[in-house]
Amino acid sequence: MAKASRPTTRRLQQMVRAYREAGALMAAVELGLFTHIANGADDEVSLTKAMGLQPLHGERIIIAMLGLGLLKRSGGKLILVEDVERYLVEGKPTYAGEWMLFTKPDWDEWGRLSTILQEQAPPLLENKTVAGITIEEARRYHRGTYSIGRGAGRLFLNQVDLTGKTLLMDIGGGSGAYCIEACNRYPNLRAIVLEMPAVVPVTQEFIDESGLTDRIEARVCDFNHDPFPEEADVAVMASNLPMYGREAIGAVVGKAYKAMASGGAFHLIGEALDPDRSGPPDPALWGLAQAINNTTGIAHSVAEVEGYLTSAGFNDVQTMGFVEGILQRTTGIK
Ligand SMILES: C[S@@+](CC[C@H](N)C(=O)[O-])C[C@H]1O[C@@H](n2cnc3c(N)ncnc32)[C@H](O)[C@@H]1O
Repeated sequence: MAKASRPTTRRLQQMVRAYREAGALMAAVELGLFTHIANGADDEVSLTKAMGLQPLHGERIIIAMLGLGLLKRSGGKLILVEDVERYLVEGKPTYAGEWMLFTKPDWDEWGRLSTILQEQAPPLLENKTVAGITIEEARRYHRGTYSIGRGAGRLFLNQVDLTGKTLLMDIGGGSGAYCIEACNRYPNLRAIVLEMPAVVPVTQEFIDESGLTDRIEARVCDFNHDPFPEEADVAVMASNLPMYGREAIGAVVGKAYKAMASGGAFHLIGEALDPDRSGPPDPALWGLAQAINNTTGIAHSVAEVEGYLTSAGFNDVQTMGFVEGILQRTTGIK
């Protein structure tokens, strides 16, 4: 009779040392390792030289990238695997290296998480990751969100038909990525990006660069405190769900409902948990990350998000998958 298999420590060991994978990948991005290979430095000696490293360190980081499956060997050459080739080669329109470094400022704090979790100070609504930041920090932050947000914006447009819509309100719209993609696709659409004061000048830079200055406005609006523009017939609130608690998100959705045009469609694209609140891991960890800045933020479930829309008054509330394991899109009609 076959013995029942007993658990091993393998999964736990892998998880507890995952910080080393994160550190190795961030270092490779910062050193331009993948870009150098794409530019022809595709053996260990020339790649080490191109990165300006001493041979011992060059060997270490290259072997680590091979070990992690981010590089492969082929006929004595180093080659990039598919996702690395698409997203980590600088200069490509699909480059998302800035997004890979987006959460790096939190790095030290994760190392003292148990201490942070024992602190008793009441959480703050003002989320200091975005309130009172410098323009330079806003620029760094949104180079990251733009590098990933354009693709998300196109994904949104592939799911949602905006034909006939006239005004898009993007609540906490960051770089304006969703509005830029939408206005590029729909020539009669106008958009307003609502953002924190330090972010608006940066949003304006992205809008100017896109050539859509006459149709997209970047407007200062702290969505917890300030009024929303009237009569938007479509609204997006993307990738800021875990930054605030239940009361705050419910209030923002309620305010959006009141301001929107009748018949308008509201889309909350968020890092939401499944209805039973047992996963997936990525939204759960975005929620945990909020402890680092002592915000009211939490991992909300799709059932909770649907509740915010229904309580606000939206009809036909439903949730669709957006980016599997990462983002869900909950939508409702006024
Ligand atoms: C991760 S970014 C997402 C940006 C954009 N929605 C996207 O998907 O590319 C979160 C954004 O929410 C904005 N945000 C957070 N709290 C806000 C508030 N109280 N009022 C306005 N914007 C806020 C931040 O400034 C930041 O740009």
